[in-house]
Amino acid sequence: MPNATASLARRSVLALVLLGWALPFSSGAAGHTPGARGDRIIISGAAGHLGELTVQALLARGIPASRLILVTRTPDRLARYAKLGASVRYGDFTKPESLRKAFAGGTRMLLISIGFSAVPRPVAHQNAIEAAVADGVKHIAYTSYIGLSRGARTGLASDHYRTEQILRESGVAWTMLRNSIYMEEVIPQAAKMVATGSAVVPARESGIGYVAREDCAAAAAAVLVTPGHDDKVYDITGPALIGTRELASAVSAVTGKSIELKPAGSGTPGPRRGLGGPTLSVTSDAVAKLTGRPPMSLREFLARHRAELLGSAK
Ligand SMILES: NC(=O)c1ccc[n+]([C@@H]2O[C@H](COP(=O)([O-])OP(=O)(O)OC[C@H]3O[C@@H](n4cnc5c(N)ncnc54)[C@H](OP(=O)(O)O)[C@@H]3O)[C@@H](O)[C@H]2O)c1
Repeated sequence: MPNATASLARRSVLALVLLGWALPFSSGAAGHTPGARGDRIIISGAAGHLGELTVQALLARGIPASRLILVTRTPDRLARYAKLGASVRYGDFTKPESLRKAFAGGTRMLLISIGFSAVPRPVAHQNAIEAAVADGVKHIAYTSYIGLSRGARTGLASDHYRTEQILRESGVAWTMLRNSIYMEEVIPQAAKMVATGSAVVPARESGIGYVAREDCAAAAAAVLVTPGHDDKVYDITGPALIGTRELASAVSAVTGKSIELKPAGSGTPGPRRGLGGPTLSVTSDAVAKLTGRPPMSLREFLARHRAELLGSAK
């Protein structure tokens, strides 16, 4: 029952974090050995979904809050981590003058890609990378995009591709965390299946290796505090490729509702082509290797959201 064990482990860790406890941690050697007591870890976008989950994953690993530098545009939202001893600082990638002060004293950094903004994302990311390097940060892990591993360079991929180039050329040690599409993104589609009792199966579909944000955070935390990740690229994915059929089957298993599969076309409204696309059809064992536990399965994920799915069926 590896899934049940993993689920129990996740719940236990979350409980410890919520209680403000930290597991005993072993410090590495002095200097820039990841996880060493001298390291101070910057998390950008710390008040965002992935940022806060990464903070929780670091605390659950036993990293003291006092070693965390949480950079955000909304420091008030992170007051509870400031109370635990974290340094919570204002920083905005579109305001380069805010960044040197924000990153001061940090040695390792998780650069969380920002959403679309008035300033082109690669420029905003470059502002952050340059300020971090000027402040003496030795290693930057960047949350990139899975499509790059299958050669995507346009659309969503283009900003990430450019940012990866900037980071590689910055002179600092780097790690690319090429995150797949978040599993959270399937919830509306799953809820619709429950509500309608049916799913339209596109004529052409490539499965996606959806990954739970929590697993992205756990992988990022591992890269920040363990050695061996300099200048490496990791595909951060869930355990399996998921298309409409797999989603319908999991929704049915978790909710007990039967979902009728209807082929697209022949009078059935719905997409002829699924989301996905070949550049998203990637799975890897990176999450398991980095974190020591398998990534969350779709069924486990949907089971956590069961009430939400059933609520939408009323
Ligand atoms: N893999 C996927 O399926 C997927 C889907 C959507 C997005 N993404 C990418 O993954 C990133 C993280 O995901 P998420 O779920 O954590 O998104 P999120 O909750 O929207 O968090 C993104 C965070 O980026 C920070 N940010 C935005 N503009 C900024 C700026 N100008 N300067 C500094 N920080 C800025 C903000 O942090 P503060 O609020 O702390 O300032 C924001 O909360 C997203 O930003 C996006 O690039 C991936």
